[in-house]
Amino acid sequence: MRIALIGSAGQLGSDLLPRLQTAGHEAIPLRHADIEITDAANVAAVLEPLRPDLVLNTAAYNLVDKAEDERDVATLVNAGGPQILARLCETRNWRLLHISTDYVFAWATGLTYRPWTEFDDATATGNYAISKWAGEQLVLAECSRSFVVRTCGLYGLAALHGAGKGNFVETMLRLGRERRQIRVVDDQRCTPTSTADLAEALVKLIATDAFGLYHATNSGSMTWCEFAREIFRLAKMDVEVIPITTAEFGAMAKRPAYSVLDCSKLASVIGGPLPDWHDALARYLASRPA
Ligand SMILES: NC(=O)c1ccc[n+]([C@@H]2O[C@H](COP(=O)([O-])OP(=O)(O)OC[C@H]3O[C@@H](n4cnc5c(N)ncnc54)[C@H](OP(=O)(O)O)[C@@H]3O)[C@@H](O)[C@H]2O)c1
Repeated sequence: MRIALIGSAGQLGSDLLPRLQTAGHEAIPLRHADIEITDAANVAAVLEPLRPDLVLNTAAYNLVDKAEDERDVATLVNAGGPQILARLCETRNWRLLHISTDYVFAWATGLTYRPWTEFDDATATGNYAISKWAGEQLVLAECSRSFVVRTCGLYGLAALHGAGKGNFVETMLRLGRERRQIRVVDDQRCTPTSTADLAEALVKLIATDAFGLYHATNSGSMTWCEFAREIFRLAKMDVEVIPITTAEFGAMAKRPAYSVLDCSKLASVIGGPLPDWHDALARYLASRPA
């Protein structure tokens, strides 16, 4: 397939490019300097000459807290941009794959938490989450041959070279070099995911015609505090991780207390689940330059 890869310098885009090429696709990397997804004329001018079979959009406004002050920009990039891509793909009969987030689920539905499925109603709270939810719904409504994939807490090696906002693993390693004690939130449960593993899964998904909405994270779940402890254990760093509450941390934007995703639909389409998060984290740390 001929694939226009938007956001190719980002964490996920950087891990997708070599995997798409290894799978035999002709992948055309598009960085932010090459395409502006919020500008319909620019999008058409860049994509039409490429005549892709698939447009793969990993670009987004990902600054969750800053979005509380920048609702218009977040909405333009996370909802307006995907809508422009969806409309063009629909008129040209191109496929579209778009990435969304576990933050569309703000709260659990009852006292007993269970992983969210694609059939559960979204309850997005906060400008980032609402803008991402709007974007995924516009893609599904306006492009009949689209895949929308919700994922969580991405970490990829491109963050080492300044991609996006960085990632939690790199933040912990940096703080761990500076301090002996770190306070980390222990009342948000989810499944941070390696972009290398997500990229592998996406390459398998685009080989199918099973369009629609998917959940895709590494397997298992943890709190950020548990994740931080595992990072320091594997990195052999002597850092004390002190559990705190979301309220004590005091971030601008609300986060879901529980956003573990049920990924069984994707597993049934691509032949199995993504690897366990412990394994994914160990491979990430091993592949990182010292
Ligand atoms: N990171 C996470 O923790 C996380 C969690 C759940 C879901 N997701 C979703 O997963 C996807 C990939 O995330 P990621 O971490 O790989 O993101 P990333 O590292 O921030 O990469 C996104 C790329 O998109 C580019 N971009 C931003 N605005 C653009 C625009 N208007 N037009 C064209 N390009 C633009 C950025 O370029 P510049 O930096 O030069 O602007 C950047 O290279 C996104 O849809 C994100 O919302 C991410």
